[in-house]
Amino acid sequence: MATDKVSIHGAWVSRWVFILAATGSAVGLGNIWKFPYMTGMYGGGAFVAMYLVCIALIGVPIMLAETLIGRRGRQSPVNSMKALAAESGGSKLWPLAAVIGMVAALLILSFYSVVAGWSLDYIIGMGRGDFSGISPQGAGEAFGGLTSDPWRLTLWHTLFMVFTGFVIAKGVVAGLERSLRIMMPMLFVLLLMLLGYSLTTGHFMDGVRFLFHFDSSKVQEGILAAMGHAFFTLSVGVGSIMVYGSYMPKKSSIGATVLTVGLLDTVVALTAGLALFPIVFAAGLEPSGGPGLMFVTLPIAFGNIAFGQIAGLVFFVLVALAAWSSSISMLEPAVAYFVERTGRSRAVVTSTLAFFCWLVGMGTVLSFNVGADAKFFVFANDGFHLFQWGAEGGKNFFEGIDYLTSRLLLPLGGLSFALFAGWVMTREAVRDELSISSPVLFNVALWLIRVVAPIGVLIVFVAELTK
Ligand code: PFF
Repeated sequence: MATDKVSIHGAWVSRWVFILAATGSAVGLGNIWKFPYMTGMYGGGAFVAMYLVCIALIGVPIMLAETLIGRRGRQSPVNSMKALAAESGGSKLWPLAAVIGMVAALLILSFYSVVAGWSLDYIIGMGRGDFSGISPQGAGEAFGGLTSDPWRLTLWHTLFMVFTGFVIAKGVVAGLERSLRIMMPMLFVLLLMLLGYSLTTGHFMDGVRFLFHFDSSKVQEGILAAMGHAFFTLSVGVGSIMVYGSYMPKKSSIGATVLTVGLLDTVVALTAGLALFPIVFAAGLEPSGGPGLMFVTLPIAFGNIAFGQIAGLVFFVLVALAAWSSSISMLEPAVAYFVERTGRSRAVVTSTLAFFCWLVGMGTVLSFNVGADAKFFVFANDGFHLFQWGAEGGKNFFEGIDYLTSRLLLPLGGLSFALFAGWVMTREAVRDELSISSPVLFNVALWLIRVVAPIGVLIVFVAELTK
């Protein structure tokens, strides 16, 4: 296969743009919203430790695998895998992995857009000064007021989905780069400001202890959650990184690039945790506050510091932008595929897919209010029910989609991508793409992809089944 081909959808001008785009995809609600609340739910340090191990041994190798498949295939993930499987005589079933990933990405987008919509609502709230001098209880009530109102949620969800579709319809290469160049450094600066505030709360060390105290009795409880989150936060297992890889110039080192993205993503998540938990403790809140954690704690912080209103406003704008640069990467694999397959314009394909995601997202909107009793995956005394209205246990629609994607589809997708790059593509093809000059480093990368990452995924699955 000619490897100097260019994708019909465009190309990044340099590997820096790939780093920007992939970091834009990786850094998002997963870091600032999900990581802190999951750490809270799964008891702190043990979760963080497993998450870091999963990032290093599973997430980053799979990111390498995806990038190299994409760059060699130069098409949408499904068609890249089809072409590469044909090239190396692999089974015709391999592209199925990319199909599963594509669907998973669309499902994630459906709820991601709803949560990103919350940050749009908070931009207005901050701008109006709703949170100035707010108490922990008031912040909790403000959040409850938002999630219990399906109309307000629908409005923001719709708006966010339109924004996402808009960038994708225009093409990722054009609009994305300029905004990311400004946005990412600003996000860092604001996170550091928040960190500064949390240092003044007098509970900073409680936060540090909570994040880094390793309690081995909690390991089994959160291990699948930690791995699922490692996939989610790096955007791997769905083909987003693969499709971005397909726009990457030939002459750039994939290894260093992917490491940079993984590192930046981890630093942002840890900084968010270090900024948030001291505020949680100072306000006397529970760290296990669930999905509302960030939306309750940050307004307390911003409502009670000098210039908090303006900092809060800017912060939620950045959260929305970080979510935006992630959400577009969820739509791109499917848009690229359907453009290739149907020959229709990006605009038509994007509108159709965004509408589908919007519709599924309405399930998440309703799961916080009138549909809270619609339960999925219910394990009850009389056996397992896929769906039951008003069941005690089980998961609501939002939790169900999150569970299905993070715990099952992403690890499955990632496992397949690693096996494909490691065992189906030829060693020469992988060497050519990775272009790592040191033979030792090349072998380390290859065996991480071939063996360590796949075995890691399998171990976690088995640990979950036997718990
Ligand atoms: N990595 C994103 C985050 O941490 O918010 C979420 C994400 C983006 C997941 C893209 C999946 C994806 F394809």
